[in-house]
Amino acid sequence: MANLQNQQIILGISGGIAAYKSAELARLLIKSGAKVRVCMTQSACEFITPLTFQALTGNPVHTELFDLEAEAAMGHIELARWADRILIAPASANTMAKIAHGFSDSLLTTLCLATKTPVVIVPAMNQQMWRNRITQKNVSLLEQSAIRVLMPAAGEQACGDIGPGRMQEPQIIVDTLGQENDAVLSGVNIMITAGPTQEAIDPVRYITNRSSGKMGFAIAEAAEQLGANVTLVAGPVNLETPRNVNRIDVKSAENMFDAVKNNVVGQHIFIASAAVADYQVAKVATQKIKKKDESISLALSKTSDILAEISTQHNDLFTVGFAAETEDLKQHAMDKLHRKKLDMIAANKVGNGQGFDVDDNALQVLWKGGEHALPLTSKKELAKQLMQLITTHYQAR
Ligand SMILES: Cc1cc2nc3c(=O)[nH]c(=O)nc-3n(C[C@H](O)[C@H](O)[C@H](O)COP(=O)(O)O)c2cc1C
Repeated sequence: MANLQNQQIILGISGGIAAYKSAELARLLIKSGAKVRVCMTQSACEFITPLTFQALTGNPVHTELFDLEAEAAMGHIELARWADRILIAPASANTMAKIAHGFSDSLLTTLCLATKTPVVIVPAMNQQMWRNRITQKNVSLLEQSAIRVLMPAAGEQACGDIGPGRMQEPQIIVDTLGQENDAVLSGVNIMITAGPTQEAIDPVRYITNRSSGKMGFAIAEAAEQLGANVTLVAGPVNLETPRNVNRIDVKSAENMFDAVKNNVVGQHIFIASAAVADYQVAKVATQKIKKKDESISLALSKTSDILAEISTQHNDLFTVGFAAETEDLKQHAMDKLHRKKLDMIAANKVGNGQGFDVDDNALQVLWKGGEHALPLTSKKELAKQLMQLITTHYQAR
């Protein structure tokens, strides 16, 4: 069970159907040792009554900004100072938008502005509202302001839709807060690319590679466990999204480059573990190519070098590359480290059952003036060790 002993938490509740889950959340927070005071928006009170939370927490529930009685007792500034953490669950699209843009027209949004304490936001909304570009931009803005966003889960929704937007389960939220005590990457934004890319030949065929995406997904999970805000740009893979990770699905190398460019502002660390195609079909056929001639030729053109472009254009970004080689591993990796101006490179041998599409791997990690071998182990364990190394070097930079 998570240990939140004596942590003073403001549980903010905004107007969403998931507000009923906040009663269980309040109970679990208290069970984990936290002292909880609840602040509800006007809309939240339409979904569940303040009385429920008063009974569960044993404290008065705060709903009004302009409340003479409350201001005379524990006023809004005092309440903001009291908190070790503000947790908003559910966070409506509206409340997220307001906090992202610095609005303070309700008690809850005012508390978020009037505090230096960490704010954790747990969104819950219809999948279309969640996918909306405006909401996604607000998520980026919140993360850029060092606000932790616990990404919603995907699944069946109250409105009957299926997709991302379900509030994380109360137990997961409490466990995540518990883990944050050793969250060395709290407030750090990390973008990770993972998996292969698919380069279309015609409407039914494509060129790809053997990457499974397992390493990149394991790194995303390890980074999230260290408290980072993680954006995972994933090529076509059949893997479950790690908890609290913001996943963007792409297909081709150019799609991946666009997704990275669109989301790189505000990132602190960029880890390029995807096996991006070096070449794409120069002219993609608009109709299926027919089997006529004995042989055919496909002209290929170079794709953009995502890692090199990003590392040269964003000097402040801590960049980590991957080198998958079949021979002269260290030599090729060193060359790539210098040529692409990277902070770190993780090299691994591929081919003959090594590296791609297996669960174990070994890495040789190199940086200017040093190196470290991470011996053969599961990709999940390897990802944790790699994230420790990255964290040490990122913090020392
Ligand atoms: C039945 C119903 C369910 C709603 N569920 C959600 C929801 O899950 N997430 C959300 O962002 N908005 C939802 N809304 C819309 C919000 O309640 C609305 O945007 C409100 O202004 C939010 O106010 P607040 O952010 O101050 O709490 C719902 C509205 C209704 C009528």
